[in-house]
Amino acid sequence: MITDYRTKVLFLLFVLFVIFLGTFGTLITIPVLLLVIVVLSTFATTFYGSGWTPSSRQSIERILKEIRPKKGDIIYDLGSGDGRFVIAAAKQTNAKIIGLEIDFFKWLMSSLAIKIKGLGNAKIIRKNFFTYNFHDADIIFIYLPQPTVDRLQERLKKLRKGTLIVTNKIKCKSLKLTKELKPEKIYIYSTK
Ligand SMILES: C[S@@+](CC[C@H](N)C(=O)[O-])C[C@H]1O[C@@H](n2cnc3c(N)ncnc32)[C@H](O)[C@@H]1O
Repeated sequence: MITDYRTKVLFLLFVLFVIFLGTFGTLITIPVLLLVIVVLSTFATTFYGSGWTPSSRQSIERILKEIRPKKGDIIYDLGSGDGRFVIAAAKQTNAKIIGLEIDFFKWLMSSLAIKIKGLGNAKIIRKNFFTYNFHDADIIFIYLPQPTVDRLQERLKKLRKGTLIVTNKIKCKSLKLTKELKPEKIYIYSTK
């Protein structure tokens, strides 16, 4: 008798897989299975802090023009998605750009894109930003839902003096706003 909840779900999925395989054959079952895994993995990130809504190219360009990172600066994108901010920042600056992304497929695709483009100053780490230590950051970019930003605020406040925190659309209520970029709704904060 299976008592563990996760084992029960896995067992049920295995039974469904065998029935599907018997009915439709490998040619249909394998692609469908892969699709289900990718979709489930993408939606699962909502429970970790956010689903996937990418920043617009226009917002990214505006941010990079405004913050002008220096050579050697360390920039983090908390929840880097398809890596578009990381890639744009790595192309346009001499800073070191690190994306933290929990979803395996987004981590894989964005890491491959960085390799193919030969961007030596960028990398994506497959980690949860709630547990990863980003204390060495000079700049942090965030495009996440309000409750997730609220949860991060205490850690953001404790970053070293002068760290820039750039948020897309969402405000950090407990940090002092330095600048707002309109109409994109980009908010720039600096720690005291
Ligand atoms: C709204 S998207 C933003 C993507 C990217 N920063 C951009 O601006 O285009 C948020 C991303 O955070 C990822 N994510 C959600 N919770 C996370 C967590 N706890 N740790 C790391 N990544 C997470 C999601 O998988 C998703 O790709």
